[in-house]
Amino acid sequence: MLQQLSAEELPKVEKEIIDFINTYTIHDDLKKSMLYSIEAGGKRIRPLIVLSTVSAFRKELTPPVHQTAGALEMIHTYSLIHDDLPAMDNDDLRRGKPTNHKVYGEALAILAGDGLLTGAFQLISETTLSPAENVLLIQLLAKAAGIGGMVAGQAGDMEAENKHVPLNALKAIHRGKTGALLTYAFVAGGILADQPEYVIGLLEKLGKHVGLAFQIRDDLLDVVSTTEELGKQVGQDEKSDKSTYPALLGIEGAKQALAEELGQAEIVIQQLTKAAQFQPKIFEELLALFALKK
Ligand code: IPE
Ligand code: IPE
Ligand code: MG
Ligand code: MG
Ligand code: MG
Repeated sequence: MLQQLSAEELPKVEKEIIDFINTYTIHDDLKKSMLYSIEAGGKRIRPLIVLSTVSAFRKELTPPVHQTAGALEMIHTYSLIHDDLPAMDNDDLRRGKPTNHKVYGEALAILAGDGLLTGAFQLISETTLSPAENVLLIQLLAKAAGIGGMVAGQAGDMEAENKHVPLNALKAIHRGKTGALLTYAFVAGGILADQPEYVIGLLEKLGKHVGLAFQIRDDLLDVVSTTEELGKQVGQDEKSDKSTYPALLGIEGAKQALAEELGQAEIVIQQLTKAAQFQPKIFEELLALFALKK
């Protein structure tokens, strides 16, 4: 099921993003720089969550679903371009290619990020959804991406370099920098599938566990995986003396924390199955993507 969604529906999300950039960008190098990072690939996990959530409620995947998923992926891609800048994580490799600033220079990389961020809000504001539903999706996206979500988490991440913050503080950083956009993916899927508030509440709970799990896994992969496999340089967190789960709890402790979050996510999926016309199978497949393979 997930395989089919990836093969048939993700290209529609891709097309929304690329058509949007091609239609609206009036500066050539800016366009190239944005398309460079978008077309470098990436796992497209956030759009896949939006699509899976709508499908799990047996709703149709209409253009507004692809546009919302596309806007979310644009914001995620901008966050990576800025995350890699010398002033932040100072990385040279992303999605198996040189980072945006290595190819286009820092100024254009910053502007490509700005373009993807603002463009995302233009794209999502152009759906055919009812104004009320559209404004809700836009408002929640702004909250997730912004000063109460991803941007705040990134500020916390930078502040936590060269010191070992307590676990609760690290959890809050991870929930912001990574959890907020992943939670949005589930919640937006629920809204697009016209679900009632209590179901949206469960999706939010699920997103929080999955979002934290995703960043714990990312921290672990930086230690146990390879540059070839990830398409980004491993060992970077230790080099920058980042606060991470493995740094705080050790590899085994981090693996245990990951398993705990995924276990909590499983419980919420069971609750969803009881609460709504919900197909858990696709979510089981989705969660399997978050486990550590070794
Ligand atoms: C990387 O995200 C940054 C984190 C939030 C952990 P992904 O692992 O989803 O990166 P891409 O999109 O596949 O490149
Ligand atoms: C990045 O976390 C989170 C965001 C980009 C918001 P990381 O800095 O750990 O992500 P990677 O490891 O560079 O992909
Ligand atoms: Mg970072
Ligand atoms: Mg980074
Ligand atoms: Mg990382």
